[in-house]
Formats: sequence, structure tokens, C-alpha cells
Amino acid sequence: MKIHTRLNLFGLAMMAFAGGCSKNESPAPDKTQPAASASSQTTGAKKHKGTPDDPYVIGMSQCNLGEPWRAQMNDDIRKAAEKHPNLKVIFKDAQNDSLVQRSQLEEFVNQGVDVVLISPKEAAPLTEPVAKAFHGGIPVIVLDRALLKEEYTSFIGADNVKIGREAGKWVAETLGGKGNIVELKGLMTSVPGQDRHRGFLEGLDLKAHPGIKIVFEADMQWLEPNARKEMESALARQPKVDVVYAHNDPGAHGAYLAAKQVGREKQMKFVGIDALPQEGVQYVKEGILSVTFQYPTGGAEAVDMALKVLAGETVPKKVTLATKVFTHDNAAAGGQAIP
Ligand code: FRU
Repeated sequence: MKIHTRLNLFGLAMMAFAGGCSKNESPAPDKTQPAASASSQTTGAKKHKGTPDDPYVIGMSQCNLGEPWRAQMNDDIRKAAEKHPNLKVIFKDAQNDSLVQRSQLEEFVNQGVDVVLISPKEAAPLTEPVAKAFHGGIPVIVLDRALLKEEYTSFIGADNVKIGREAGKWVAETLGGKGNIVELKGLMTSVPGQDRHRGFLEGLDLKAHPGIKIVFEADMQWLEPNARKEMESALARQPKVDVVYAHNDPGAHGAYLAAKQVGREKQMKFVGIDALPQEGVQYVKEGILSVTFQYPTGGAEAVDMALKVLAGETVPKKVTLATKVFTHDNAAAGGQAIP
């Protein structure tokens, strides 16, 4: 108990030194989520003083850097951390390999980082390594892709079931009760892929809309080239496709390119998720996608939270980020928030 109090006081002093972190408050933490109990949280045995001469070290393991959304997350982390001279971030790129990502966690532990951030590729292979680091006393903040157990300090991400459900409702309304859908799924060993699929089916409500059919579905593993290939197969088999629902914008764009190649892109609407300004939102403005749903990276929020954890503050076990919808009508005005 005494130790805990001392850590808190030390942490608060460090917070004051760092100029606090209120600038990076999470935009829309879900207040309905219970806060972590003190016992499920670790402040960790800090390895660094948290001064400009001996900054706190955050280890960030990114599952890959091949997609613009991931580069954006790292940029958001970098920019938020730059505001704090008492913080240093070490970035590692797991190159879309869960085993590599596992060993990166071990390296961070051996290296003596103060906090680990991880955006895991897949749930199953990374659940135990994250739990091990956490139980070993290192605070771990998981970003964007959930794990199978909640043995970490906190999870930050948007609600993928809700995003999928909104996409499903949009498609059902747009089709007016009749039409053929191609669904290009994200990696189905990652939780966002599973949730975006489940939510979509809920929003689509096929029982209430017997004229709507999912005529082709495939796992494109979040990757544009895969989506393009899968869409080529879908088009070869299906003479009539009305909507393509892809679990991310690169997937929707890949599908668009496949349809364009055979001159069919105007016969169908493309729905994506992520809404990066330079990617999905731009596609919407250009009329390539009809709609995209924002999936915020949570990078700035993660840095903010790491500072709080280092200051000995209790943080919520889960932070749910808000989402927005972008259509041709509202994209220029910055999209519309989904309550
Ligand atoms: C990037 C990405 C995003 C997607 C997220 C889901 O790797 O595929 O496009 O929204 O991961 O975890």
C-alpha cells in the first residue's frame, strides 16, 4: 500500500513535469465501461526516471506497416509523444507475422521498457505473450484488435460490431429490400473481422429482407491485392452484383479496381471502413466509394493513457472510440458522427 502511494506521488510529480496530458484526452471514451479495479492494473516497476535525460521508454509493436492506416497510427503516436520530452517511443514492425510480433514483446520485456503498446495481428497467438508481459509487471495497452482474454492494462479501439451494423443498415436501406451483396472480409483470425461481419449481418437483417442475398464472401485478410483477386472471382461467377461490402477501405478499393477492369464498376456500390482523409474519404469524394465508416487509430489516446499509467493513475479497462459516417453529401463537411 505504501509503495503504491509513493508511486502515485512520484507519478503525479512526473505528470506535472511533463506538463500534464489533458491535451490528448480521448475524444469519446465510453463512460458505460467499468473502470479497471486497482488490482487488475499495474503501474509497473519503472525502469526510467521519466526526465528528458532519462525518458520513459514506450515500446510499440505494430502488426504491419504495409497499410496506410497503420502508418497513420504510428504517426499519431509519434506526434502525441513528441509533446512530452520525458517520453521516448521505440517502434517495431512485425511485418504481418504473429510469431515476429510475439518475439517483439519478449524483446521489449528484456529491454526494460516502461510501457508496451501493441496493435496485435491476431488474437490467439498474441493473447498469452501479452498476458505474460502484463503479469510480469509491464503495463500493456492493446490497440485496435482485441485479444481472447483481458489480461492487459487497457484496450483502446472503436466498436466494430456497431460499425458493421451501421454498414448493414446502410446497405439494406440503399438496396430497398432487393439485391446481391459481395462481402470481402478482413482477416477472420482477428477480432475486428469477426465483429464487422457479425454486426453487418445484424444491421442487414436478412430475415426481414428476403430479397437481399450475400452471393459471395471471402477473407481478403485486410489486403487490397487479395480483395482485388477475390473480387475478380466474384465477378466471374456473379452476373449481378449490387453492393460490395469490404471490411476496410483498401479492400473496397481493390474490389472497385477489379470491377472497373471489366467495365462493371458503375453497376454496383462500394462500402468501406477506416475513412482516412487521404484514403477512404478521398475515395468517397471521388465517387469511388459510396460510403465509409471511420475507424480511428487511437494512437494519441494510447500515449495519453501511457502517461497516466506511469503516473500511477487508474485507467479504464476499455476505451471505446467514436465513429463517423462519410458519404458523398457530408464528406466535404467532415462526415457525420454516429451516436
Ligand atoms: C489495417 C487494418 C485497417 C482496419 C484494421 C482492423 O491493418 O486492416 O484497415 O480497419 O486493420 O484491425
